[in-house]
Amino acid sequence: MISNDSKPPISLVKLAHNLINGKVKSGDIVIDATVGNGHDTRFLLDLVKPKGNVFGFDIQQSAIESARSALQGHSFTECLALIQASHANMSELIPLAYHGKISAVMFNLGYLPGGDKRIITKSDSTLAALASASQLLSADGIITILAYPGHEGGEMETDQVKNWCLGLDPGQYQVRQFENHPDNPSAPKLFVVNKMG
Ligand SMILES: C[S@@+](CC[C@H](N)C(=O)[O-])C[C@H]1O[C@@H](n2cnc3c(N)ncnc32)[C@H](O)[C@@H]1O
Repeated sequence: MISNDSKPPISLVKLAHNLINGKVKSGDIVIDATVGNGHDTRFLLDLVKPKGNVFGFDIQQSAIESARSALQGHSFTECLALIQASHANMSELIPLAYHGKISAVMFNLGYLPGGDKRIITKSDSTLAALASASQLLSADGIITILAYPGHEGGEMETDQVKNWCLGLDPGQYQVRQFENHPDNPSAPKLFVVNKMG
């Protein structure tokens, strides 16, 4: 639980942004593993501009187009590479020069809001992407994974993400889990992985 008596809980998206904000600075290289409508992509772009880079992945052309149109007019789109591909392939698609230098990777799992709810993230590719993300990460880098057990397949994916987190070497990675409604098993969960420098 991330609330206290006097304040309403902040959203897990906002919490993920706050935690990333504490780690990422202008000039950094970061990854949005699930671009969707581009809200997280914009957030990341604003953190790393004017000289950093955001690599954004989504399998759906409609998501890439939606994000591109949402970011039209942004002054630093030259810092952004939107890639229509599975995040499972991020290692091959991120230039070698950046391997080990990525300061943040954001995952917002599930389906594209306003899009086709049958196209969702899947455990196998999510786990492959997490393995790559942990390798690409810089010392002191951060991975945030917002998981939604409430939709079909989401519970299994959330459990597998949790197990992946629990399997990380505690000497190398710190893992935290946040949820606003611990009594509700279908409420979203935020997993935060920090690589220790
Ligand atoms: C909850 S949405 C992301 C929301 C987004 N971060 C935003 O700010 O609008 C999840 C996205 O993951 C995408 N997705 C599903 N499987 C994927 C995969 N294997 N690789 C990359 N993106 C994937 C979906 O197409 C969908 O757009």
